[in-house]
Amino acid sequence: MELINNPTLNEIKKAAKALKDGHLVAFPTETVYGLGADATNVKAVNRIYSVKGRPSDHPLIVHISSINQLSNWARDIPEHAIKLAKEFWPGPMTLILKRSDLAKNFITGGQDNVGLRVPNQPVALALLSEFESLGGLGIAAPSGNRFGAVSPTSSNDVIDELGEYFQSEDLILNGGSCSVGIESTIISCLSKSPSILRPGAITHEMISNVLGNEKLNGIRSGNIRASGNLDKHYSPKAKILINNHPKKGEGLIALSHIETPEGVKRLLAPTTLVEYALGLYEALRQGDKLSLSVINVYTPENYDLGVAIIDRIKKASGQLNS
Ligand code: TXA
Ligand code: MG
Repeated sequence: MELINNPTLNEIKKAAKALKDGHLVAFPTETVYGLGADATNVKAVNRIYSVKGRPSDHPLIVHISSINQLSNWARDIPEHAIKLAKEFWPGPMTLILKRSDLAKNFITGGQDNVGLRVPNQPVALALLSEFESLGGLGIAAPSGNRFGAVSPTSSNDVIDELGEYFQSEDLILNGGSCSVGIESTIISCLSKSPSILRPGAITHEMISNVLGNEKLNGIRSGNIRASGNLDKHYSPKAKILINNHPKKGEGLIALSHIETPEGVKRLLAPTTLVEYALGLYEALRQGDKLSLSVINVYTPENYDLGVAIIDRIKKASGQLNS
């Protein structure tokens, strides 16, 4: 595996070629780092599953360079999906749509729908456009962590998570740290009114504003095969306790106005929800690096970006969306 820092256009072209040749390329997006493969190459996609240790029935998000590529992968696209795509792409939003023949079972986990996203990160967009100029159609990319672990927000995190599973011709593009820090909002556009399957930086409020009168279903915790909907996911090794008073020797993640009791290791003190989302995963990783057995996390208020932050905190702690 080769790590490329601040890739030049030529290095991005080389990465696009590596993808086309069936190798894996980890790359930055604005949400978290992804582990990419050619979404039409079954062998390459299967390697994603083995490198992550992820069950093969968990679908992957296909990343495309613009809304113009949507109809390659999806069909019968509803009007509300077009509205959302026009408003929020490139950006931290994934749309679940009926799949075209191009989206095979090895991408969709056997479901008849597909997740699509245009990321908003310069290295990711350049990689997608170079890949497409080589005839590529889309890059499948889950978060670049082992199954069930915390998503990576830097190239170092990817190396810590997956370094030992890469092969010599795989690449990691270091494009700096992510600007959002938690995974994209996933919206199912399969029924008459769209529903949020995973909250993210494109919030319920933002989506409702765009859809106007159309109904938007809240967060559904049904039994769709979204790994983000498992009981325990996005989890560090430490035990996560929510809104619990920390004891000496334990870790603490909370908004800055909450004080750190003596003997407690403060891992994050954000002043805003944006800073909270940005720092959350790094703080959880830091707790593991310090071998803390318990990390106490105080939840922010349950609105706006706070909804997604609380969702990830609950998942890290093993609690469902309750
Ligand atoms: O921000 C993100 O979305 C990042 C970056 C790399 O783009 N990707 C990401 O992928 O978080 P992943 O695979 O770690 O999480 C995607 C979630 C999984 O829980 C997967 O099961 C779900 O989306 N998913 C993907 N396609 C789906 C589909 N067709 N129907 C329902 N859920 C789907
Ligand atoms: Mg993931």
